[in-house]
Amino acid sequence: MKGVILAGGLGTRLHPLTRVTNKHLLPVYDKPMIYYPIQTLVNAGIRDILVVTGGNNAGDFLRLLGNGKEFGLEEIHYTYQEGEGGIAQALGLAEHFADGEKICVILGDNLIEKNIVKAARDFEAQPEGAKIILKEVPDPQRFGVAVRDGDRVVEILEKPKDPPSNLAVIGIYFYDEKVFEIVKGLKPSARGELEITDVNNAYIARGTMTWEILDGWWTDAGTIASLYRATRLVAEGGANKMDG
Ligand code: G1P
Repeated sequence: MKGVILAGGLGTRLHPLTRVTNKHLLPVYDKPMIYYPIQTLVNAGIRDILVVTGGNNAGDFLRLLGNGKEFGLEEIHYTYQEGEGGIAQALGLAEHFADGEKICVILGDNLIEKNIVKAARDFEAQPEGAKIILKEVPDPQRFGVAVRDGDRVVEILEKPKDPPSNLAVIGIYFYDEKVFEIVKGLKPSARGELEITDVNNAYIARGTMTWEILDGWWTDAGTIASLYRATRLVAEGGANKMDG
């Protein structure tokens, strides 16, 4: 399985911190934000990694990460997203890199306490489709939220005002090669972007989506409050633990 890190976007929710740099280069305690999703993929045994970025600071990723020696990697691949077409458009740029293999996609501002080793193993064994990871949160209206019917996830609602559950869809997704055909069929949402939630709903409609609950804390770091929370969680106990 290959790994794709989505690290583009304007990071407007973090202004003025992101006026002259990319969100994913900002510090989370003692490391740049993007170190955490890279480590999440490496800990899951994924060694073939693509970073999708954009904007004026794309070159800084190369200077910061190089070939990924700090993570024990031999090389890191990079691609550039022109414009602001959304998460799913950025994902579409990974088609050549994926080359028909399964992929694990992680949003560059998502941090976890533990690891996704079990989910990755389960998805390797899954014959087709996709897998999402859910986490109970106190503020589901900020995220994609799972609508459940018994044990089944029947739909995902993007940032619902009146959340049907407190299960957020975290920014770590597993897809088979059909994801690129799904992305090509998407229409822009009301905010003019191709939404990752629409990709996931397409898999749900095909009946090939599975899900798991994440063990340990999860946070995004795309707002001032969540960046502060991420920094505190890492400072107090660390991230990307392999035990448990
Ligand atoms: C994105 C997704 C959302 C998901 C979240 C996880 O939201 O659209 O479904 O729950 O990432 O971090 P964003 O933070 O880009 O608005």
